[in-house]
Amino acid sequence: MSSLKIGICGLGTVGSGVVNIFNAHHGLIQQRCNNDLELLHVGARRDNSDCDTSDYRVSRDIFEVVRDPEVDVVVELIGGTTVARDLVTQAIEAGKHVVTANKALIAEFGNELIALAERAQVALRFEAAVAGGIPIIKVLRESLAANVVSGVAGIINGTGNFILTEMAHEGRSFEDVLAEAQALGYAEADPTFDIDGTDAAHKLVILASLAFGIPLDANAAVTEGIDTVTPEDLDFAKELGFSVKHLGIARRSGDALDLRVHPTLIPINRQIARVDGVLNAIMVEADSVGEIVLTGPGAGSLPTASSVCGDLMDLGRVLNHSLVDPTPTLGVPSDQLQTLPLIPRHEVAGVWYLRLVVEDRPGVMAEISGLLSARGISIEQLVQRPPAEGSSHVTVVILTDAVMCGHLDSAILDIETLPALSGSVVRLRVESFKEA
Ligand SMILES: NC(=O)c1ccc[n+]([C@@H]2O[C@H](COP(=O)([O-])OP(=O)(O)OC[C@H]3O[C@@H](n4cnc5c(N)ncnc54)[C@H](OP(=O)(O)O)[C@@H]3O)[C@@H](O)[C@H]2O)c1
Repeated sequence: MSSLKIGICGLGTVGSGVVNIFNAHHGLIQQRCNNDLELLHVGARRDNSDCDTSDYRVSRDIFEVVRDPEVDVVVELIGGTTVARDLVTQAIEAGKHVVTANKALIAEFGNELIALAERAQVALRFEAAVAGGIPIIKVLRESLAANVVSGVAGIINGTGNFILTEMAHEGRSFEDVLAEAQALGYAEADPTFDIDGTDAAHKLVILASLAFGIPLDANAAVTEGIDTVTPEDLDFAKELGFSVKHLGIARRSGDALDLRVHPTLIPINRQIARVDGVLNAIMVEADSVGEIVLTGPGAGSLPTASSVCGDLMDLGRVLNHSLVDPTPTLGVPSDQLQTLPLIPRHEVAGVWYLRLVVEDRPGVMAEISGLLSARGISIEQLVQRPPAEGSSHVTVVILTDAVMCGHLDSAILDIETLPALSGSVVRLRVESFKEA
């Protein structure tokens, strides 16, 4: 049995979880990876009362962990992309393996860091960076390695799912649920990336890179947040038999890719439509295995730390037999990753939910269906709510057939010139997936 010494940088939600798992399960960890995996050094600007670090070397300067000659693996758990990038770069250059939970760092700087790690012959692992406790990185990189993956889709931001679930089931406002999500520690103090879809987009490009063997590109996905979804849309969706989820979708179509993050209506009988609260779920479609769905906690101290520890134990096992981790970080060596063109947004076909407020008079619906039909768009379903007392307007919801996004854009521009329309047209995508 050899020994692998670990240094953790950052003692917040995830860092304290890793310390707690090591404190509780040190014997089990050693036994299961047949290696003396030792937590040696913790870098933290201050103590965290959620965990006991009295058995470890503690430094207030996190870079002391990188400089510690006894540390073999640096675990980056500070978040962000500035200091974290320096820290990981310095660790790799010092010949240390790195484990991180930082999706922003991997999505934005993964290509350079992976290439650096390959040159230095050290491992860079990030299971916790996508969907917290769900082991999707290892599944895509290793368990499904013999498959050609055609698509990955998932609920990959727990905060967004919590907000949409509470709005749909309890009829609460967006602002009210967001405040609770922050109080419960689900949302970041600055929740911008959770709300505007950036966090989900970072995770999606990591999944797409593993699934399709493409380089990381943080800006590749068409990204929409959840702040455009209203309680009214959630009500209508329910009435039509759908649940609204914030999905990341990566699909391969021929030699091109469709990468999107947006609120999506999903038929309520699909498994993923019933994944509520802070849970995450990821569907993978691949040629040999068919469809698999992984569900579980997408965030939180111990679930996320569980993935970090899984990475550490993997390294412990591998490095017991070899000086180098032979598993390529993204499934294939970085010089074999191949860029695939992205399908332009206007060429992506799909079914749409449209909500309009129009004058309550004969002929208006004929005008709207005429403008849709002129762009080759058929109405599959239409729901109209009676006008509120004293109001001259009604709300109409339309489900279209599958239509090219560019054609819908044009039809909506036409509809928005109608004097009978009040405000603008609200639109959300609909995805049916396969039978559950
Ligand atoms: N929380 C989750 O459920 C979750 C799930 C999946 C992935 N992640 C990822 O895991 C990473 C850590 O997240 P977290 O939730 O544990 O964050 P957190 O609770 O905010 O903890 C961050 C820790 O890093 C320290 N830190 C931050 N910037 C630093 C700097 N410049 N120098 C030194 N120390 C610094 C903080 O120290 P101070 O307390 O002194 O500020 C704190 O100890 C992030 O990349 C996040 O995206 C988190």
